[in-house]
Amino acid sequence: MLVCDGVPLEPIAAEHGTPLYIYSAATIDERYRAIDDAFAGCPHSIHYALKANSTLAIARRLRALGSFADANSGGEIEVARRAGFTPSQIVFTGVGKTMAELGAAIDIGVRSINVESAGEIERIEALSRERKTRTKIAIRVNPDVDAKTHPHISTGMKINKFGIPIDEARQLCAVTRGRPNVQVVGLHAHVGSQITNMEPLTRAAAALVTLARELALDGTSIEHLDIGGGLGVSYDGSPVPGADEYAAAVLPVLRPSGLEIVLEPGRHIMAPAGALLTRVVDVKGPFVVMDAGMTELIRPMMYNAFHRIEPVVLTDAPSSSVHIVGPLCESSDTLGKDREIPRPNVGDLFAVLDTGAYGSVMASNYNRRLMPAEVMVENGAARVIRRRQTLDDILALEL
Ligand SMILES: Cc1ncc(COP(=O)(O)O)c(C=O)c1O
Repeated sequence: MLVCDGVPLEPIAAEHGTPLYIYSAATIDERYRAIDDAFAGCPHSIHYALKANSTLAIARRLRALGSFADANSGGEIEVARRAGFTPSQIVFTGVGKTMAELGAAIDIGVRSINVESAGEIERIEALSRERKTRTKIAIRVNPDVDAKTHPHISTGMKINKFGIPIDEARQLCAVTRGRPNVQVVGLHAHVGSQITNMEPLTRAAAALVTLARELALDGTSIEHLDIGGGLGVSYDGSPVPGADEYAAAVLPVLRPSGLEIVLEPGRHIMAPAGALLTRVVDVKGPFVVMDAGMTELIRPMMYNAFHRIEPVVLTDAPSSSVHIVGPLCESSDTLGKDREIPRPNVGDLFAVLDTGAYGSVMASNYNRRLMPAEVMVENGAARVIRRRQTLDDILALEL
C-alpha cells in the first residue's frame, strides 16, 4: 500500500475525498535544504517561485525554512505578503506587469522588479517619480540560450517573449544609469523549466557574469545575479542532476563575480513533494476513467508531460495496457496513455506522482468542476491546507 511519510494514503482519501492533492512536509524541507546547502559556499538567497505552488501553507513553510519569494503577479505578491514575506524578501517577475501591479510593488518596496523591456523601465521610472521614490530593478536578459526542454517551458531564446535581448542590455543600462528614480541592482535570466542538462544553465550564468563585468566598466555596479529557476526533476524515475550538480555547473562561473546569487527554484522543490489522489469512476474497454482530469492536472495535456500513475493498493489482478483518462468532455483529457497496470475496479485509488509543482495552481473550474482539496502530511498526520471548493464558492461571484 502506498504511503506518504509512513502515513497510508487510502484512509486520507477516504476522509477527505478525491481528487485530492497531498504534500509531504518532510520532502519540501529536504529539497529546499538540498539547494541551500549546495550553494552554501557562496552568498546567495533562494526566492522560491510561488508560481509552482502558492497554497498559503506551502508558502509559509518555505518562509519558515528561510526562503524568500519570487512572485509573478500582483496576486502572488499579495499571497507572499499574507504568508509573511517582507517586501524586501520578494522579487517581482513577469512578462506583462500592469501599471496597477507595478504601482503596488513600488509602494511596498519589493527587493527588485525584474524588468522585461525598455518600456517597462519607463513605466517604473514614471510611477516612481510620482511617488518620489527610487525603485530597485534587475534587468531580465534573454541570453539566447536553448534550455533543451519542452518548447512550452523554454524561455531563453530569441524567439521567446521573455526578457531584453542580451546585446541590448548594456546600452539600456547606460541610458538608465542617469535616472534618479530607478536603480539597476541586478541582472536576471531564466531560460526555462524542467532543465535536466546543466549546460544551458552554465551558459546563461556565464552570460550574466560577462554582462555584469561590462556594466562595472561602464560604472553600473550591481548587487546580485538572479539565475532564475529551471532545475528539473525525474518524472519517470530515471536519474537526473540534483542540487549539487546544479551548483557544480553554475558556481565556478558565478563565484568569481563576487556578487550575491539569487535563485528562483519552484519545480525542483515542490514536484516530488506532491501527489494527486484520484479514484476510478469507470472502466470500459482500454479506458480507465478517473475522477481527476485536466481540471486538476493539466500538465499531461499542456506539455505532453509524463507522470507515473500508481495503484495505491496493489492487487494481484492481471496487468494490461490501458489509457488512464479524466472525466471531462475533451478527448485530450488523458492523464496517461498506454499504462501497464493491474486491471482496476471502480472505486480503486490511484496516485499521480510528482504533481506538487504546476498541479493545483493550474487547476480550473471547466465543466463546473470544483477545485480539489489539499492536505499536508507532517509528523505522521494529514491536515487540510485548502478545503475543497464548493459550487456556492464559484456561484458567489455571479450576478
Ligand atoms: C522567472 C521565473 N523564475 C522561476 C521560475 C521557476 O521555474 P522552475 O519551477 O522550473 O524552477 C519560473 C518558471 O517558469 C520563471 O518563469
